[in-house]
Amino acid sequence: MKKAKSREPNAESLNPLKSKTILLGVSGGIAAYKACDLASMLRRAGAEVHAVLTANAREFVTPLSLKTITRNAVHCEQFSGDGEWRPEHIDLAQKADLVLIAPATADLIARLACGICDDLLTTMILASRAQVMVAPAMNPRMLEHPATQHNLSVLQNRYRYEIIPPEVGEVACGDFGAGKMASLETIMATVGARLLSHRTLAGREILVTAGGTREPIDPVRFIGNRSSGKMGIAMADAAYARGAEVTLISTVEVDRPYPVLLVETAQDMQEAVETEFDNCQALVMTAAVADFRPLAVSEHKIKKTESEDLLLELTKNPDILDLLGRVKRKDQIIIGFAAESEALLTNATDKLRRKNLDVIVANDITVPDIGFGSDDNAVIILNEDGSRENLPRMPKRAIAEHLCDLLAERFAALEKPKSKVPN
Ligand code: CTP
Repeated sequence: MKKAKSREPNAESLNPLKSKTILLGVSGGIAAYKACDLASMLRRAGAEVHAVLTANAREFVTPLSLKTITRNAVHCEQFSGDGEWRPEHIDLAQKADLVLIAPATADLIARLACGICDDLLTTMILASRAQVMVAPAMNPRMLEHPATQHNLSVLQNRYRYEIIPPEVGEVACGDFGAGKMASLETIMATVGARLLSHRTLAGREILVTAGGTREPIDPVRFIGNRSSGKMGIAMADAAYARGAEVTLISTVEVDRPYPVLLVETAQDMQEAVETEFDNCQALVMTAAVADFRPLAVSEHKIKKTESEDLLLELTKNPDILDLLGRVKRKDQIIIGFAAESEALLTNATDKLRRKNLDVIVANDITVPDIGFGSDDNAVIILNEDGSRENLPRMPKRAIAEHLCDLLAERFAALEKPKSKVPN
């Protein structure tokens, strides 16, 4: 029998995080004891680890343990008094490729959400421009508390922050529920995915639309829809992280490092998309565009005393995708979205064909808890060749990563020289 050739592990597979600098922030919860194992795993994966401990973290884990494991000085004090003229938190914060906070207590999460920097760790995070990963760990009731949930959603919606969700299980105090810090394997996998995510869309010009349009009735009222813009923003963020030159046309205001064009109505969106379309290689149209708008917009607030009934006459809005599908060049890719309440596949396939799209992402809006306004969705991706892929419930960011993979594959296929057909 032939012996299978054993593959020599190369330096890269042994040290996937080589040349990456990670700032490991540890706050004061019982899960802090796991920070030593985590630091060791990161270091063995090749990363340069600098641990920063809050005062409370030092009640659970000693700086000496982390210093020995990371082979680097451990930082605790904001005002150490000695050392270089330049404060160490600025240097380290700027050097870091990633800030990983594990465990993150409810208190630390609250301080981060408010931008408070009253100790070394929070100051360094504020001074850094690196990606910040937060692995919460706390009692389930503290996690459930509206204040903590609010603070987590503030961080989640902030560019550069990623929450590594806590797991369900028995926590140190004996209570059972969500609140256990994610396993070290999950944390390592998430860190790896973020730091090693390849720039597969480097230089690609990608236009994304997000949010629901608002069609004014009078100076106060409008016709709107339930779209939160989360899918489009996640798509734009994911493409940008992969090196794409992203332009986001959005009805929702967001602060991002790439250009965001704020629009309100379907007509504004049409104008902006048409202006940008020629220069883009892919359009991802997640926006929920109102199909109709009031025929006339009242200059003054409509008074309820004017009559018993109010009849609004509506007129059709332009179908932006339909218009662009007609002028699309061969080197451009268009992805549309279809939110359906019935006959999901039939309706989505019909839109894919009718609007000359390359891909349509369909979701069933009757499924509770996902889709509009939620951080998660479950979708079916339909391709123009009839193939399709089911993505079960997952965060919108994960759906966006999937679409980025799909775009990267399609760009590669577009550029592949066509083999000559022999005579
Ligand atoms: N869309 C668009 N312009 C419109 C309406 C929709 O560009 N006026 C785009 C959406 O951004 C989405 C796709 O078309 O990517 C499908 O939108 P959807 O609202 O599901 O479908 P409609 O074409 O509006 O059809 P219907 O309302 O009959 O379902």
